[in-house]
Amino acid sequence: MSHLPLIGHPDLSAKVCLVTGAGAGIGASAAQYLADCGATVILADRDLASSVAVAERIVDRGGEASAILLDVTVDSEVGDAVERIEREYGGLHLAFNNAGVNGPALMLHEQDPKEVDRIFGVNFFGVYYSMRHQIPAMLRAGGGAIVNTASVGGIIGAQGISSYCASKHAVVGLTKSAAADYGRLGVRVNALAPGSVRTTLLTDWLDDESAVEKMNEVTPQGRIAEPDEMAGIVGWMLSDASSFMTGSVVTADGGFTAV
Ligand SMILES: NC(=O)c1ccc[n+]([C@@H]2O[C@H](COP(=O)([O-])OP(=O)(O)OC[C@H]3O[C@@H](n4cnc5c(N)ncnc54)[C@H](O)[C@@H]3O)[C@@H](O)[C@H]2O)c1
Repeated sequence: MSHLPLIGHPDLSAKVCLVTGAGAGIGASAAQYLADCGATVILADRDLASSVAVAERIVDRGGEASAILLDVTVDSEVGDAVERIEREYGGLHLAFNNAGVNGPALMLHEQDPKEVDRIFGVNFFGVYYSMRHQIPAMLRAGGGAIVNTASVGGIIGAQGISSYCASKHAVVGLTKSAAADYGRLGVRVNALAPGSVRTTLLTDWLDDESAVEKMNEVTPQGRIAEPDEMAGIVGWMLSDASSFMTGSVVTADGGFTAV
C-alpha cells in the first residue's frame, strides 16, 4: 500500500511557517494557501501594512496568521524574527524565502554598482541570512523544509537584468549547497523558479501592457501566470508529499525555458 499523501491539498497542520515578502504578489498568495493547508503562517515584509492586511484576510477566512516587520537585508533582524517565532510558536518548521526585487532594464555597463549591491542585498543576502537563522531553528524542531524563490533568471540569462539573473543564479547555488549540507539532518532545501507572474515586480519592470503581450507570445502556454499558480507548488514543495526532493529547482514558467 502506498504511504503517499493524496496530491491536492497538502496537510500542513501543526507546522509553523515563515514567509518573507508576504505582503504582495507570490508571497501573499502562498501565505494564504499555506494557511488554507493548516499551517500557522508568519507573514514577514519590509512593508508592514501590506503584510498586516494579508494576515487579516487569512484570519478572516479562518486561518492562523500574523504579520511582522522584517527587512531581510539585515541579518540581526532576521535572527530576532526567528527567535521570536520560536519563543511565541514553539518552533519553526517551514520557510518560504521569497522577498525579492528587480531594477530597471539596463545593459551591464550602464548599471550603477550601488544598484547591483541593492539587488544582491535582497535577492541573495536576504535568502542567505534567512537560511542562516532558520536552519538551526529547524534542527531544534526536529527537521524542516525550505523553498527559496529563484527565477527562470536563475537558470538562464536575460537582456537588461544581468544583476537580477546573477543574484538568482546565486540563490540556486545556495539552495543546492544547503541541500547537501543538511540532507542527512532532516532539512530539505529547494528552489522555485517562476517565469513571468503578474505582480508589481513584473509590471514595474515591463513598460506597459504591450510588453506583457510580448511575454505572452514567447511563452508556450501563451500567457503569463497569476500569483496563485505558484502557491500550490510551494505548498507541495514544503509538504511531506515531496519528502525525497531536496536541492531541486522547480520551474513554473509556462514552458518558457523548455523551448
Ligand atoms: N513576478 C515575476 O514575474 C517573478 C518571476 C520570477 C521570480 N520572481 C520572484 O518572486 C519573488 C516575489 O516577487 P513578486 O513578483 O511577488 O514581487 P512583489 O513586488 O509583488 O512582492 C515582493 C514583496 O517582497 C517585499 N520585499 C522586498 N524587499 C524586501 C526586504 N528587503 N525585506 C522584506 N520584504 C521585502 C516587498 O515589500 C513585496 O511585498 C521575488 O523573489 C522575485 O524575484 C518573480
